[in-house]
Amino acid sequence: MAACSTGTLGPMCGIVGYVGPQDARDVVLEGLRRLEYRGYDSAGIAVVADGTLTAAKKAGKLANLEKVLAEHPLPAATIGIGHTRWATHGGPTDRNAHPHLSADGSVAVIHNGIIENFAALRAECEANGIEFSSETDTEVAAHLLAAAYAAAPAGESRLAEAMRTVCRRLEGAFTLVATSALEPDTLVAARRSSPLVVGIGEAVDGSAEYFLGSDVAAFIAHTREARELGQDQVVEIDRHRGLTVTDFTGSVVEPRGYTVDWDAAAAEKGGYDWFMLKEIAEQPQAIADTLLGRLGSHGELVLDEVRLSDQELRDIDKIFVVACGTAYHAGLIAKYAIEHWTRIPVEVEVASEFRYRDPVLDRSTLVVVISQSGETMDTLMALRHAKEQNARVLAICNANGSTIPRESDAVLYTHAGPEVAVASTKGFLTQVVACYLVGLFLAQVRGVKYEDEVAAIVADLRRLPDAVAQVLSGMDEVRELARELADADTILFLGRHVGFPVALEGALKLKELAYIHAEGFAAGELKHGPIALIDQGTPVVVVVPSPRSRESVHGKVVSNIQEVRARGARTIVIAEEGDEDVVPYADHLIRVPRTPTLLAPVVTTVPLQVLACEIADTRGLDVDQPRNLAKSVTVE
Ligand code: M6R
Repeated sequence: MAACSTGTLGPMCGIVGYVGPQDARDVVLEGLRRLEYRGYDSAGIAVVADGTLTAAKKAGKLANLEKVLAEHPLPAATIGIGHTRWATHGGPTDRNAHPHLSADGSVAVIHNGIIENFAALRAECEANGIEFSSETDTEVAAHLLAAAYAAAPAGESRLAEAMRTVCRRLEGAFTLVATSALEPDTLVAARRSSPLVVGIGEAVDGSAEYFLGSDVAAFIAHTREARELGQDQVVEIDRHRGLTVTDFTGSVVEPRGYTVDWDAAAAEKGGYDWFMLKEIAEQPQAIADTLLGRLGSHGELVLDEVRLSDQELRDIDKIFVVACGTAYHAGLIAKYAIEHWTRIPVEVEVASEFRYRDPVLDRSTLVVVISQSGETMDTLMALRHAKEQNARVLAICNANGSTIPRESDAVLYTHAGPEVAVASTKGFLTQVVACYLVGLFLAQVRGVKYEDEVAAIVADLRRLPDAVAQVLSGMDEVRELARELADADTILFLGRHVGFPVALEGALKLKELAYIHAEGFAAGELKHGPIALIDQGTPVVVVVPSPRSRESVHGKVVSNIQEVRARGARTIVIAEEGDEDVVPYADHLIRVPRTPTLLAPVVTTVPLQVLACEIADTRGLDVDQPRNLAKSVTVE
């Protein structure tokens, strides 16, 4: 079976390429700085200058490579490629860093993905007398490419032809970018189930320049004009002949063009110490942007791309929400809202489990996939499984041009702008808001809610940016608290109803940023076991629902606070303004504005983001690039 429809594995690396009049060394290094969030186990760069290929690479963060380059600069060049790696195949060493060169040093290759048949290909190369200098699967591509180049007919586009020949032999997921001393004006790249976008710009001298990137962050400082590469396609960029895209057999295809609406400044820290702090602060705007233009001229809700008829939407009798990590938590919140508004049953599942348990799917099932990056492999595989079973797929995504929206039947973009910090913040809140919109959209199409009812809830949604801004303006106490909690061994998070996924999200943020053991529980579950974890002074964060919430869930949570406090817990209570019931039991009280129950996660999550960020900072950790993680997880 083709690798793209089976389970694919691949490291989640950052890839940059440049062809144009600027100094490729600078453009590539700048692109790598912007993509370092995709992987920071090693970095490398290769340039072709005066018909000679030179490369440098170093284990560790990009700063290590920059030190090497400061001591041993590469020559100025107009063609270059660069790579930041998240290691899966071969340890994070200098040897395994990309680029990998062919034995004769004529070809350099960078790669994102895993070549699943690399062992057989490596054996074949070794049988031909090639000695490998790394443990990576990528190196086979460099050797095969050099051999295919030698065998390709003389003339133009030899490197592209060699790339197509090699790609037809590869199984797995890959983005490959190659440059060669033998074709010094050309850069060639290929993709299968792994991201790659092309940027086309105009340099100051008026000539065309071309960029390759794992995502548009690599080049938005230079151009917003992008081309999307499809599955199993090869792009050849020649300084004189420009851009040509073909499939793996060599048939020319026209790539889809689009304009990136992200602003280059959005991918800068803008005076903040961490991207995460900036992205937390951007949340009011991100929510407002996600809501912008959603109501049509007759008050009806509009999504971005809907390739489904109203009848198909009316026929839906079951919804699955499928996502990973923080996006999964957005899905858990979505369940409460979508079921309440549409009365359609909703199941929420982590994408990595979804397809392995043979879920019951058919053409009246809607699968909502949520992904900030649009490239998460677990989510993409779940999407493909759903489509194979004839289910309809709606994507909630932040990255235009990424794979997940491209393969879905309908798309709602979150307009959060680039999210660089590995920990998702504005990505999450905008996903939650987008889920509300999907719920309302379905309720409206199916006639369960009238336009005025939808409009009333949209009006509540439009108050959220101010509510989040209000929360953000009162975070000094949370910062103070973070300093007090920085040495905690364990912090527990409790919530009920929509507060439960918020508790899970608070715990995830703390784990991934501060490396502190943290767990989120449904507050009612505590008495069934986890309450035994509570010891004298154990910090317990409780997300309290509104006193106006249904069936006295508020009162139950207030009781839960008392239970944990009676066992010695130090209680940190997040409660709505005016909720006086919690006051006697809160060691620390964090207030949030009054918000309709279903929408409350958008405000209650914010203090938990700030808490995790500040604890990590107090502990002296790298908030934006936590250990062992990468932003875009293209491994299964
Ligand atoms: O790009 P995606 O939304 O698909 O990413 C899903 C998760 O990998 C992501 O949310 C992850 O859990 C974050 N690091 C959490 O902060």
